[in-house]
Amino acid sequence: MDISSYKNYISKETMMGPNCVRVLAELFDKHPLQCAADDRILDLGCGTGLTSLVIAKETGARICANDLWVSAEENGKRFAQWGVGEQVMPVCEDANQFHFEKKQFHALISIDSYHYFAGHEGFFQEKILPFMKDRGEVLIGIPGLKEEYASRAKELLSDWLGDDAYMFKSRICWKELIGSHERIESVETWEMDCFREAWSEWLASDNEFACNDRQYFETIIRPYTCFVGIYIKLK
Ligand SMILES: C[S@@+](CC[C@H](N)C(=O)[O-])C[C@H]1O[C@@H](n2cnc3c(N)ncnc32)[C@H](O)[C@@H]1O
Repeated sequence: MDISSYKNYISKETMMGPNCVRVLAELFDKHPLQCAADDRILDLGCGTGLTSLVIAKETGARICANDLWVSAEENGKRFAQWGVGEQVMPVCEDANQFHFEKKQFHALISIDSYHYFAGHEGFFQEKILPFMKDRGEVLIGIPGLKEEYASRAKELLSDWLGDDAYMFKSRICWKELIGSHERIESVETWEMDCFREAWSEWLASDNEFACNDRQYFETIIRPYTCFVGIYIKLK
């Protein structure tokens, strides 16, 4: 995927953390999706919908852009402005209580969001799997802990993240949390290559949260954290 095609959309207003388009590009390069125009993809925790726009353009599929903190109305206006209003449907629901039709999504993509709500055993099986089609695919990119610091999130990250430090988990921990199920064929987790670039692009922006993160990058973020990629293939 050529990220430069989307540079006009990536700004301090649309970014909510390390460059989500950069993270998405690595997931797509490693696990390209084959989609038909009537396939549905769930962009889970899409924020301002930047990734939803890119997924729509790259796959040609219909996108369900779900987020909790950003309203469907606000995202809907942006999608119309970006010219993808027909292809991308904004939804505002909590991932713990989806009301979607069962077995409808060909793929699920989630960037910098899954760690907020899915860090316990059984979440994937109970809250996500029912909505996925057979042979579906799941691509997730989230901040996490480097393997050598696994389970030390509170001790190492609290100065930066306060009570949210527990959300950062290692690659192996995420593989265990996703777990198994008769409908799951395989689960792969890895430390992503895009960490440096995704973070630099965020820190270079004038977003007020980026200004705060800048203070902790060299002392906490770079030494202890990484981006964890998760790929799940269903039977
Ligand atoms: C750091 S932002 C990332 C947004 C976007 N994916 C990006 O990378 O720019 C995390 C997002 O997770 C979403 N989120 C948090 N808890 C959620 C939940 N329970 N259900 C759905 N989305 C949730 C928030 O609404 C928020 O937009």
